[in-house]
Amino acid sequence: MSDGKEPIGVIGVGWVGLVTAACFAELGHEVWARDILPEKIESLARGEVPIHEPGLPELVAKNAERLHFTTDMDETLEHARLLFVCVDTPPTYSGDADLSRVEKVLHELGDSDRHALVMKSTVPVGTGRSIQRRRPGTGYVSNPEFLKEGSAVADFMSPDRVVVGADGESREYADRVAGLYAPLDAPVVSTDVASAEMIKLASNAFLATKISFINEIANVSEELGADVTEVARGMGLDDRIGPKFLQAGIGYGGSCFPKDVQALKQLAGNTGYHFQLLTSVIEVNELQKRRTISKLQKHLGSLVGKEVALLGVAFKPNTDDIREATSLVLSGRLQGEGAHVRVYDPVAAREADGVLGGAVISDTALDALDGADAVVLVTEWPEFRELDWGGEVKRRLRQPVVIDGRNFLDRDALEAAGFTYEGIGR
Ligand code: UGA
Repeated sequence: MSDGKEPIGVIGVGWVGLVTAACFAELGHEVWARDILPEKIESLARGEVPIHEPGLPELVAKNAERLHFTTDMDETLEHARLLFVCVDTPPTYSGDADLSRVEKVLHELGDSDRHALVMKSTVPVGTGRSIQRRRPGTGYVSNPEFLKEGSAVADFMSPDRVVVGADGESREYADRVAGLYAPLDAPVVSTDVASAEMIKLASNAFLATKISFINEIANVSEELGADVTEVARGMGLDDRIGPKFLQAGIGYGGSCFPKDVQALKQLAGNTGYHFQLLTSVIEVNELQKRRTISKLQKHLGSLVGKEVALLGVAFKPNTDDIREATSLVLSGRLQGEGAHVRVYDPVAAREADGVLGGAVISDTALDALDGADAVVLVTEWPEFRELDWGGEVKRRLRQPVVIDGRNFLDRDALEAAGFTYEGIGR
């Protein structure tokens, strides 16, 4: 199109699809966003955004005229030539990605060669090549997303890089896709499809490795008397290392890292290669989630009959996502040890209902803390720092024991107020 604007189809209006649709609309494109769930489409058409993502409701409202939410695939195909596939690819029991939703989209498209597929869903390396083999003559571009939950709109609008992978004749479509991002002024990595797919998985696996690495440094620091927050500060100033993703804690979670690290390990395994490093990254993460139990036992002895409050359920702040959240493992393990668990989360409490076993979901942080023998800070929501720890919190607790799973609270202030404080790696 002469003005650089191009009608876009977004297939699958989950978290990635909705952010993509809203942001492309914000960049001036007409967007047909199609999902198979009528209730979701109806509520989006009314302007209701079903996920907690800062800035997204405003963007959807602002661009309502350019955003066409629909369940109708034909309508989408009629208006758009570039189709961004944003359906989810959850892990199967084997750790491989479940591509059934991608397959369904391919089935619906039939043999139409007027539409180019732009794969945003995270898929195993080799998926694009196999799709192209089955659909020769149609355009195919891999355009992985690098959005973080909680800052997805900002990440979309100022990406570190845009990756577009295409093979053979599809390269003209890759240029068109890259052109859509041109106003964002980001470096573009133009490559082949398999490499683009690998960039996505390898990036997440590397970040997860960084986290498991610093968590092991934390565990050793605890034994040797070093403070991991100081260690990370000193390491992070080295340009080659960088300060990000060096926060020790009770393990990474979410819908991406656990899935993608496992998927890359599995992909390697399918080729006969044992990815030793990623096997350890996963194991370290699992053990890290469970270390909190022994920390609690150190201070409380047996956990049978003890009341433990978990502050935070979401896998990280600014999201209501609880997939693979450490809170789920902790809640289950604590109850397995005979403890009574109460949880509070400012946003994710509704999601937690029914998946935390017998844990009680409290309406406020103070309710969760009432009469507790120990508090575990699981998610670093800013409001947890604002609690009146030295006053109201201490009065409510039966024992002033805090396990700060994210090194988030003011250790000195808590210790001065008479708390037994234990962080991670300090
Ligand atoms: C991650 C990637 O950061 C995105 O680039 C990617 O697009 C996304 O997965 C995806 O594949 O869709 P996200 O899952 O939203 O994004 O979350 P992150 O902010 O990366 O955090 C992941 C986990 O690591 C959280 O549980 C967080 O608490 C933990 N973490 C993060 C640490 O324990 N330490 C750190 O220093 C950083």
